[in-house]
Amino acid sequence: MSSKLINGKEIGSQIRKSIAKEIEDLIEKGITPGLAVILVGEDPASQTYVANKEKACHELGIYSELIKLPAETSEEELLGHIEKLNSNPAIDGILVQLPLPKHINEQHVIEAISSDKDVDGFHPVSVGKMLLGQPTFLPCTPNGVMELLKYSNIDVAGKHAVVVGRSHIVGVPMGQLLLQKDATVTYCHSKTPDLQAMTKQADILVVAVGRAKMIKSTHIKEGAVVIDVGMNRDENGKLCGDVDFDDVLDKVSAITPVPGGVGPMTITMLMVNTLLSAKMKLA
Ligand code: GUN
Repeated sequence: MSSKLINGKEIGSQIRKSIAKEIEDLIEKGITPGLAVILVGEDPASQTYVANKEKACHELGIYSELIKLPAETSEEELLGHIEKLNSNPAIDGILVQLPLPKHINEQHVIEAISSDKDVDGFHPVSVGKMLLGQPTFLPCTPNGVMELLKYSNIDVAGKHAVVVGRSHIVGVPMGQLLLQKDATVTYCHSKTPDLQAMTKQADILVVAVGRAKMIKSTHIKEGAVVIDVGMNRDENGKLCGDVDFDDVLDKVSAITPVPGGVGPMTITMLMVNTLLSAKMKLA
């Protein structure tokens, strides 16, 4: 049964090992990759993500700068911080942790980040290039999912990939990356009338909606590959995905666990993007 598990912790750590050497070489050439993370407010999940990002930077020798701002920070003040980071040569990547407090316009903030330092891949320039298949920063979670599939020797070409969720962070770019690898892609979302009829057709099912254990074995085609992007707490406060893991396990050919599946890949790909940005200085 365990052979079905797509181990994101292991794959992420392999990728981190492979970039550690590159980072070392770059530092020897006098270029230390630098990542700045801005956290506004005290959302506990965001605090955990940010702490994990700092730890990953530290382990890889990436310079990291954390700017923690109170929840009542004005949009103007936040934009001021971004402006400074845009022109700071020690910083190759800027990440503003989302979600932001309601009084701040996320789109204004994303667009204020220099597209050269947009390691999240959320800037309209990055999104446009991604759609056109041009080299750019790819958003970390969907890019991490593509790496999981690649490392697990799961060929996407010609498969029917069903993506549940249409967020700008995960669902929408996920479908595009799968399409670029020649999958036939279906997007499902809250207005999809018969979700099960769609998910049952999936050779590859990616779920990113943020609802604990909503996908059951009745949603799954026998032998499907299931990628669970969800990170929720169940009724006992235990971490769980959007997929009911125990219910679907017998039916799937491969599945990502939560935790230890997609999660570790997101941070790994952020490190990859930060290195990529720093390497531009060599050109
Ligand atoms: N919040 C949840 N996921 C992400 C992410 O990938 N990037 C940022 N900036 N915020 C997030």
